Amino acid sequence: MSAQLLDGKLMSDELRVRIAERVALLKEKGVQPGLAVILVGEDPASQIYVRNKEKGCEQVGMHSVAIRLPENTTQAELEGHIRALNADASIHGILVQLPLPKHLDEAAALAVIVPEKDVDGFHVQNAGKLMSGLPGVVACTPKGAMEMIRRTGVNLSGKEAVVVGRSNIVGKPMAMLLLQQNCTVTMCHSRTADLAAHTRRADVLVAAVGKAKFITADMVKPGAIVIDVGINRNAEGKVVGDVDFDAVKEVAGWITPVPGGVGRMTITMLLENTVEAAERAALNK
Ligand code: GUN
Repeated sequence: MSAQLLDGKLMSDELRVRIAERVALLKEKGVQPGLAVILVGEDPASQIYVRNKEKGCEQVGMHSVAIRLPENTTQAELEGHIRALNADASIHGILVQLPLPKHLDEAAALAVIVPEKDVDGFHVQNAGKLMSGLPGVVACTPKGAMEMIRRTGVNLSGKEAVVVGRSNIVGKPMAMLLLQQNCTVTMCHSRTADLAAHTRRADVLVAAVGKAKFITADMVKPGAIVIDVGINRNAEGKVVGDVDFDAVKEVAGWITPVPGGVGRMTITMLLENTVEAAERAALNK
């Protein structure tokens, strides 16, 4: 292996110690940071994510509530739960696990969360702030990916960054964050012509596609920073990323593993966003 491993577990362990210290400080002031997660339906992957979020909260001493709702929940019921959490002073962060069942309106539900408790950074107010370069809550996966990139020590100014995937959750905010670091950013997606011609120019390559082994070694520039956001299951049921790790690690300069990479950092950033929301709430009390 020539690439250096960007170990999300190691980085998270270190960051979570600092988050736990901030939680302890708030508790001394009578505030226990609280995160509420709403999960609608029975999606197995979402159930695992929600369980990991609860475990993360426990680890740093945060209060956590998981509201598990049946598949046939109505929009009005979902929004009712969000409004109750908006008004609950023991809750500083609200997360609606995505994707929602098809009959529910995701954008409408996210708009109901008060922006101060939007620890996912998905509310249009927070997404708009990121776009405008204003301080606000930054979505957890791109925030975690940027922290991993920062830890390479590479100066990003003027570097070519290629983001594959254009979702609101990852691709778009990731592109904005890379742009803020003065990268020249290219966004690729399912309609991109000659994808490999773009990815081969990337000093920083972010794969957020949702297809196992989609990024092959011939698509990667030697020495590149390769960030794998994918969480897929292969034919044997094993969790694998969007990057063909075994082959790409021989070409890249740095690479994130799956599991133990970006996914772990996403939860760490969620904990960080929640403690920050609690600190803001404590200041305004
Ligand atoms: N589904 C996949 N990733 C995420 C995330 O970061 N937040 C939420 N709410 N749902 C997700």
